[in-house]
Amino acid sequence: MGFSIAIDGPSGAGKSTAAKGLARELGFVYIDTGAMYRAVAYFLMNNEIDLDEKAEIIEALENIVLDIKYIDKNQHIFLNGNDVTAEIRSRAVSENASRVSAVREVRQKLVSIQRKMAEGLNVVMDGRDIGTVVLPNADIKIYLTASVKKRAERRLLELLEKGTSATLEDIKADIEKRDKRDMTREESPLKQAEDAIVIDCGNMSAKEVIGEMLNLVKQAYSNKK
Ligand code: DC
Repeated sequence: MGFSIAIDGPSGAGKSTAAKGLARELGFVYIDTGAMYRAVAYFLMNNEIDLDEKAEIIEALENIVLDIKYIDKNQHIFLNGNDVTAEIRSRAVSENASRVSAVREVRQKLVSIQRKMAEGLNVVMDGRDIGTVVLPNADIKIYLTASVKKRAERRLLELLEKGTSATLEDIKADIEKRDKRDMTREESPLKQAEDAIVIDCGNMSAKEVIGEMLNLVKQAYSNKK
């Protein structure tokens, strides 16, 4: 039996940095589920599928094969055999990933892949519905959050470092829109699992967040033994 850690929370809270760091410290496999929704959105955009046409999205799903591989311990996502890890990080893909993730059939396909991937492994998995839907029996559930302002500031820094220009106002508006869509959709909306531990990381460094998570893991691990 593997030990599983579910990390959920809104966009830009630093889930992937924390989850990746935690997995590295523990020697666990890290699975970034957001990358899968992004890859689906990227495929639909490239194939000019109208995201308002649910039937077209569902039909297109049959032509999507996703694969995750680890290269130098980093997760790479392959869409129909092509590595799209870098391409799926644009603002347009972020927006469209949030839209397609509201479609039930998209979620069903991805949740089933995610469950299979985690089976029997020691994993850290991050997303929006990991503690509530994908791994409801996870050994630890963490809900990582921060204010919209803090998250927008962090996202802006990341974009500027990558050489993409954007303003704080634009990023705040993006985040608010995605939060609203992710939290109010009918299918597995983002919400804190009842048994999740909340970490508000607005004033914490990534190192501090990972440290706090490690403490939680140690406690849960000793309780499990
Ligand atoms: O974590 P991220 O920003 O890479 O996720 C992209 C989008 O995918 C996000 O707007 C919500 C959606 N998502 C989801 O609905 N469920 C998940 N488990 C992961 C992501």
